[in-house]
Amino acid sequence: MKSLGLDFGTANSSVAVSDGLQSRVLELDQGNSSIPSTFFFDFDDDKTYIGEQAYDRYYLGDKGRFLRSFKSALGTSTLDHEVQIKRNRYAVKDIIEQYLAIVVSRAEQSLQRPIENLVVGRPVHFVDHDPEADRRAQESLRQIVHNIGVKNVEFQLEPIAAALNYGVSVKAEELVLVIDIGAGTSDFSVVRFAATNAVNADVISNCGVHVGGNDIDKAIALNQAMPLFGYKQRFKRREQLEVPNHYYQNASSWHKIDLLYDRKVLNAMDEISPQVFNPELIDRFSSLLKSRQVHNVLSEVERMKKAFSGHSSSTIDLDFIEPKLRVDVCEQTFHQLIDCMCDEIIANAYQAITLAGLSKTQIDTVYVTGGSMGIKHLHNKVVENFDTAQIIEGDRATSVARGLAIHGHQIGF
Ligand SMILES: Nc1ncnc2c1ncn2[C@@H]1O[C@H](COP(=O)(O)OP(=O)(O)OP(=O)(O)O)[C@@H](O)[C@H]1O
Ligand SMILES: [Mg+2]
Repeated sequence: MKSLGLDFGTANSSVAVSDGLQSRVLELDQGNSSIPSTFFFDFDDDKTYIGEQAYDRYYLGDKGRFLRSFKSALGTSTLDHEVQIKRNRYAVKDIIEQYLAIVVSRAEQSLQRPIENLVVGRPVHFVDHDPEADRRAQESLRQIVHNIGVKNVEFQLEPIAAALNYGVSVKAEELVLVIDIGAGTSDFSVVRFAATNAVNADVISNCGVHVGGNDIDKAIALNQAMPLFGYKQRFKRREQLEVPNHYYQNASSWHKIDLLYDRKVLNAMDEISPQVFNPELIDRFSSLLKSRQVHNVLSEVERMKKAFSGHSSSTIDLDFIEPKLRVDVCEQTFHQLIDCMCDEIIANAYQAITLAGLSKTQIDTVYVTGGSMGIKHLHNKVVENFDTAQIIEGDRATSVARGLAIHGHQIGF
């Protein structure tokens, strides 16, 4: 029997199939093993696009509605926020449902059979320090997956799934710390594999925190890009007062950008503009909102972040807004901006070890996965902190989905 796992990620999703030992990921998006968690409704042809096609249509300037990082709405009031699409309004949970319906139907096409049982991944905490919101988030996701026609849904923690995927190759007894740094959350598990039955992980501890690549994008955007759009501008008549910062917080948060596309926000900007020292910056923000290009700015910030993997400086290039509008960011500034988040991630890794009642020298292997482990500065911190363990790199895009499918097989699902 082949079992199926769905890793619905904040930035990327994938579906894998497993017979218990072997696993393979399905190609859901132009031959790729994962599909961006993006949604675009095109006003010209009235069609919904997801994945790379959604990006393409949005970046080519097609008229429509673009959303990304909707997983972050689970467990929060943003799940019920309504998005205006032509004459209709859809709650964000309906957008998630439309996205996952397409993902699952592509998986069914690839398998040539309907999907009735599905193991779905979840972070250790959808929402930090709020068990009730966390429970609601899982139940909303369960309902969404049922609504698209999947009868039976089981959840498994994303870092445990990653551990199970690693377990397939374990040959001797091993204590493993899993570190999965995604776009929305960072998740950690400590597991023990027995030499004789490595595929069955003995889970010793889990912990997680709502910090990930999106928070890094937000920190860079707020600090480096948003001042070009009036962030931190002061009022001429009351210099101690800054322009309300929630507009810029939303503009720097992938899952909140849509809240800005509201006539009320433009009216507020029109009111604020003549009152500040540099009105042209506020006016630039207004035209950004009118042309619905906020995602473009954040994408450029994300591209700049990724470019740091191989270089010592990088540029946020905004000349699609105005010629020569750009910000050069040096490595020192980049590290300063992300240091506290990297330290929080490392502190949580230690927390997982403490919760397991172990000390770090007892950890044999640190298994790292998730796209944000591509940040060299973070990777170096992991290596420095866990220098007595071997560091194994999982496939950043597919290890969770594969492990979910393996788990499905283990529970006869
Ligand atoms: N080379 C890189 N350098 C820095 N960040 C990167 C790099 N490659 C990808 N990322 C970041 O990794 C994140 C996506 O990782 P991933 O696909 O593991 O997330 P996810 O599984 O969708 O999210 P989550 O598990 O939190 O729901 C994004 O924030 C992206 O910007
Ligand atoms: Mg993930």
